[in-house]
Amino acid sequence: MAQILILVGTETGNSQMVAECLEEDFQKAGHEVEVVDDGSTDAADIAAREIVLVCTSTYGMGEFPMNFQAVYDSLDDTKPDLSALRYGVIALGDQTYQDTFCDAGKNIDKLLRELGGQRIGERLEIDACTQPLPDDEAQKWAAEWVTLL
Ligand SMILES: Cc1cc2nc3c(=O)[nH]c(=O)nc-3n(C[C@H](O)[C@H](O)[C@H](O)COP(=O)(O)O)c2cc1C
Repeated sequence: MAQILILVGTETGNSQMVAECLEEDFQKAGHEVEVVDDGSTDAADIAAREIVLVCTSTYGMGEFPMNFQAVYDSLDDTKPDLSALRYGVIALGDQTYQDTFCDAGKNIDKLLRELGGQRIGERLEIDACTQPLPDDEAQKWAAEWVTLL
């Protein structure tokens, strides 16, 4: 059994919905899950975790949702050693924004890796334009991801 922290970055609730679906799936699979969707975590808390799944959309011109920006900044400012951390990334975006497609997910992935984190599996990118059911996409991806923990 693993302890999984799901960090949510959302503006209009899609990432939140995905996180809640996965919380249920992971719990059914016997894991302990905590979902943080209000930014109430920081670099020290993340560094103390074993497994983190970031689930974030992209807004503005490739920016993080408001509720995730402080989490990213805390990691970027303090640069903790995350070599004990294993993580996954689900990036929600829209291909209409060609130049910034899923940039928030890509950027947190890059930072976690630079800080020593080991990514489990591939990053999932969900395109709102062609994949209207993000929870279905995420559940398919997570069914395999969770076997890699
Ligand atoms: C104003 C606005 C700006 C957006 N900017 C981007 C962007 O730069 N890149 C991207 O991939 N998606 C962008 N999106 C698409 C959202 O990331 C996508 O709709 C996502 O599913 C929203 O998830 P959320 O409800 O969890 O915030 C934007 C959407 C809106 C409404």
